[in-house]
Amino acid sequence: MDLTAFTNTIETELRALEIPQNPSGLYDPIRYFLQIGGKRVRPILTLLAAQLFGDPKKAMNQAIAIELFHNFTLIHDDIMDNAPLRRGMDTVHEKWNLNTAILSGDVLLIEAYKKIIEGSGPELEAILKLFNTTAIEVCEGQQMDMDFETRIDVSAAEYIEMIRLKTSVLLGCALEIGALVGGASKADADHLYQFGVHVGVAFQIKDDILDLYADPEKFGKQVGGDVIANKKTILHLTAVTNSSREQLNVLKNLSEEKDAQLKIERTKTLYDHLKVREMCEEMLHDHMGKAMFHLEEVQVDDHFKKPLRDLAIYLVNRDK
Ligand code: IPE
Ligand code: IPE
Ligand code: MG
Ligand code: MG
Ligand code: MG
Repeated sequence: MDLTAFTNTIETELRALEIPQNPSGLYDPIRYFLQIGGKRVRPILTLLAAQLFGDPKKAMNQAIAIELFHNFTLIHDDIMDNAPLRRGMDTVHEKWNLNTAILSGDVLLIEAYKKIIEGSGPELEAILKLFNTTAIEVCEGQQMDMDFETRIDVSAAEYIEMIRLKTSVLLGCALEIGALVGGASKADADHLYQFGVHVGVAFQIKDDILDLYADPEKFGKQVGGDVIANKKTILHLTAVTNSSREQLNVLKNLSEEKDAQLKIERTKTLYDHLKVREMCEEMLHDHMGKAMFHLEEVQVDDHFKKPLRDLAIYLVNRDK
C-alpha cells in the first residue's frame, strides 16, 4: 500500500461517515469542510504506525477520529486567527457565520470521540487517556499562541513549547495510537510518539515559513496571515534575536502598521535581509534529525519504516 492508497482510503472513509441532513445549518458546514481536501497527514501516520506491527486497517476508526479532531481544531483556529481561507476555500465562519463555525466544530469533536469508541478493543482505555491528554494540550497551545500575539518578549523556549502543544503532540498521538492498536511494546510506542513530536515541531516551523513565503496559487491559506495578526512565529523570533536596535524599532513599528499589504512587504524585506528563512530552515532540519533518531530506535525491520521516513520528508518539503 503506497501513500496515495492510504489517502484514498481515508477519503472514502470520510465520505462514508453518516452525517445527518438536518438541521442543515449544523451539518452542511461539516460536510463542506471534510470535502474540501486536506493532506490527511495525521490519519496516515496512525495507519503507518499500525502497519509497523500488523494490519493497518485495524486502526482505521482511530485514524478517522484523529482527522475529525484535527478538522474541529482547524474550524475553531480559523475563527481565532480571523482567517478567510482554508484549503483554497472560504473558512466556515466566512462562508456561514461565527456561531455556525463554533457549533459545527463542536459536533466534529464529539464525532471524533464516537469514532475512538467504535474502534474499542483492549487498548481503548490507554487510547482514550492519550487522546484526552493530547486534546487538552492542543487547547493549551492554542491559548498560548493567542496570548503571544500581544506579548513582545516571547522566548525561543516558550515558542517551542507553544508549538509542541498546539501542533506536535497531535502528530505524536496519531502515531502512538497506531502503535497501541498494533500491539507495539511500550518502548516502541514511546519512540514513535517522540518521532511524531519532533516531526511536528519541524512541521509547524515549515507552516510558519509557508505562511509568509508560500506561493499563493498553491498554498490554500491567506499568505501573510501571521504577520497581520502579530503571531510570534519562528520567523518573528529569529528576526528579533538577530536584529540591531534599529531593526527592532522597525519591527515594533510594523506590529502597529494598519495597511496589511505594506506590513507584509516590509516585514518580508527585513526578514530577507537578516536571512531569517535560512536560519529557520536549519532549525527545522535539526528537529528532523531528532525525529529520525527515534524512528531508528523502533524495533522493527528497517524497510517497514520507509513510508514513515518518506512522509516526514514530504512534510517539510511541502508547498501547502
Ligand atoms: C494545519 O494542518 C494546522 C497546523 C497544525 C499547522 P495541516 O497543514 O495538516 O492542514 P490540512 O489538514 O492539510 O489542511
Ligand atoms: C494551528 O496553527 C494549530 C491548530 C490548528 C491546533 P496555525 O494557526 O499556524 O495553523 P494554520 O496555519 O492556520 O493552518
Ligand atoms: Mg492558529
Ligand atoms: Mg491558523
Ligand atoms: Mg500557520
